[in-house]
Parts: sequence; C-alpha cells; structure tokens
Amino acid sequence: MPSSRTDESIAQSMRTVRTAVLPVAGLGTRMLPATKVVPKELLPIGTRPLIQHAVDECWEAGIERVVLVTSAGKHLIVDHFDRAEQLERMLEERGKREALERIATARPPESGRLLSVRQPEPLGLGHAIWCARHIIGPDPFAVLLPDDFILAQPGCLKQMVAAWRELGGNLVATMEVPAEQTGRYGIIEPGRRDGRLIAVKGLVEKPDPARAPSTWAVIGRYILDPAVLRELDAGRRGAGGEIQLTDAMAGLIGRQSFHAYLFEGERFDCGQRAGYIEAQLAVGLSDPEIAPLLHRRVTRGRD
Ligand code: UTP
Repeated sequence: MPSSRTDESIAQSMRTVRTAVLPVAGLGTRMLPATKVVPKELLPIGTRPLIQHAVDECWEAGIERVVLVTSAGKHLIVDHFDRAEQLERMLEERGKREALERIATARPPESGRLLSVRQPEPLGLGHAIWCARHIIGPDPFAVLLPDDFILAQPGCLKQMVAAWRELGGNLVATMEVPAEQTGRYGIIEPGRRDGRLIAVKGLVEKPDPARAPSTWAVIGRYILDPAVLRELDAGRRGAGGEIQLTDAMAGLIGRQSFHAYLFEGERFDCGQRAGYIEAQLAVGLSDPEIAPLLHRRVTRGRD
C-alpha cells in the first residue's frame, strides 16, 4: 500500500522542528496575588511579557507555528498577539513612532502562525502537551515553558535545534542545580558526556536529594519525538497526582535516542518570586540606561 508520506518528506521532517508548544494553562499559585487576574505568562521582564520572550525565541529558532495551550481565564495571553487597531491609530496620530515599532515587533511574522488550544482542567504539564496532539501531528516538536526565562545569545531553542539537527531523537535542556533543590525538578540519570551533550539513561520527577540520580535538572526547553504523545495517551498520574511530561519522556528512554543539552546562557525561574526579581535585575543590568541606577542603589544599600 503506498504511504501518504514519502521517505523524502519523512527525512526532511526529521531535520526540521516546525511546531512549538507553549503550555500556559497552569494556575500560577506561587506568584499570587499578582497572578489572580493577570496570567503569570503576561508578567513583564523589561517591557516584554514572559510569553513574548518565549514566542520570540521560537521565531528566532525557525519555528513555523506556535501553539499556546491555554485555559479558562487566560484569553489575554492570546489577545496579546492580536493587532490593537485603536491603540495603533492613536499612536500614529500622536507621532509615537517608537511605541508603534515596539508593538509591531510583538506580533507574529504572519497571520495563522500562532494558534491556541484549550486544556479543560489543569491536570499537569504532560496533559497540557497532550491537549495539542491534533495540531502537533506526526513530526518532532519543541516545548517551551515561558516561566523559564533564558538569557542567551543565540536563544536556547536555536542552540538546541542546531544540536538536534546532528542528533535527532529527543533533546532536553539541562543545567546543574544545588543538591538540596532536586525536589523541584525533573532530574537526569546521566550517561556519557560529550561536550554540551549528555546521554540520558533515566529521568525522575522531583526526587528527594537522597534519591536523586544526579544534580542535572531538566529545564523548560525540549525537542521531542511525537512518540511521547502515545506515552501520554494512558493519562497516568505521577508526582503530585499530575500527568507528568517527565514520566512520558522516561518511557522513551532505551527505545529512542535521548540526550540532554547543556545550553549556553542563564536561566531564571520566573514562576516564583526570587527568580522573577533576579531576571528583572539581570535584564536591567544589561541595559546601559538602567544599569547605572541599579549600581547606585546597590552601593547605597551597602552604606
Ligand atoms: P508550573 O509547575 O510552573 O505550574 O507549570 P503553575 O500552575 O503554572 O504554577 P504554580 O506551581 O501553581 O505556581 C509549568 C508549566 O506548565 C504549565 C504552566 O502554565 C507552566 O507553563 N501547565 C502546568 C499547564 O499548562 N497545565 C497544567 O496543568 C500544569
């Protein structure tokens, strides 16, 4: 029987990551009350919301379509990417060219490249990704968690796509974390290391430091084989009673190539207070207009 996909198209899709899924349906309880009305993903770092930084990282990496997994009360995240005709007209009339330029760079490069799908209830990260399965289709795809803000040049996803083109299979971003923090992350059981790449022999979600197989944590950037969606079909509950992406990825190890990528750059956990404030400071300190103000404040604090 002739296949609907030629060998050539399959080989091509093996080399390209076209779709990125950005789950934004979580409750954001650690940032309350800021996130009572405003979704966590719309909190700004500088003048761009977290979701904007993550979507920009996708376009930079050559992603063709971005899928936002949203939930009730999160429509503002999708609205953020629409045209604001009335505002744009007013800015035009008042000659506010710089402000106009800033909102223009927030929009997707073309209509139809930003889509959204709903997660009906917050059953976990794995479930959120699974809700996008009909849009993802049969090709490898990226996942970005927008509250993991990564300062990097080039962006973390672009670095990963370049490494993945050589490797294929599954690739997750990793960084070392303090031993006492393993209970906050998916942790890697590492195999052989080759430069920035570490072979992954196993994955454990949020292990106590005593049970953690290493201090290499999985960070919110992934390139995954669609087979992970079949793992999620079963809807198995893991740590915290949630359907965990880590457990589904662990099911691929041994059957498919699986590596962790030590990205170049700095990651901030903006899902909690300390990481969010630190990210603001890092961005402020890299801005020549703001850095002197911050330095002055720190010096004043020391006196
Ligand atoms: P978090 O673990 O940060 O959960 O999810 P959260 O609900 O957003 O925040 P807290 O813990 O209550 O403060 C990591 C990512 O997975 C998404 C979140 O939106 C975030 O991008 N997520 C999580 C979903 O989309 N759906 C879920 O059911 C859970």
